[in-house]
Amino acid sequence: MKKILVLLALAGVANLSAAAEVVGNATNAKTKVEMCIGCHGIPGYKATFPELYQVPMIGGQSAKYIENALQAYKKGDRKHPTMRGIAASLSEQDIADVAAYYSQQK
Ligand code: HEC
Repeated sequence: MKKILVLLALAGVANLSAAAEVVGNATNAKTKVEMCIGCHGIPGYKATFPELYQVPMIGGQSAKYIENALQAYKKGDRKHPTMRGIAASLSEQDIADVAAYYSQQK
């Protein structure tokens, strides 16, 4: 019972922070970028789906560029199916966070 109350309290805190203005936080991005590293973290890595693709390095790009690219995948203006699926699963806050994170990478 105690455990459930703690979880509810944590969920409340998360809701409050989500309601705040969307400002990218690179530290919060650490867990969110785990799924990107498999493709974007390896220099010269090529994705084989849906066809052989050179995966662009995104570290060191401006936060605005990364945000715009992810928004474009989310909206469907950019067509790559894997990136569309990934971008669609990200919230506005997630996008701001990962953009902040990657803009600080080399
Ligand atoms: C399965 C491999 C894969 C994963 C996982 C992946 N990406 Fe990508 N990403 C790609 C490929 C391939 C492209 C190039 C697609 C294209 O040409 O539109 C791309 C393109 C991008 C671009 C545009 C780069 C540019 O210069 O145009 C951004 C930004 C991006 N990904 C961010 C992310 C983020 C953030 C994550 C994690 C939340 C992620 N990607 C996860 C394969 C991946």
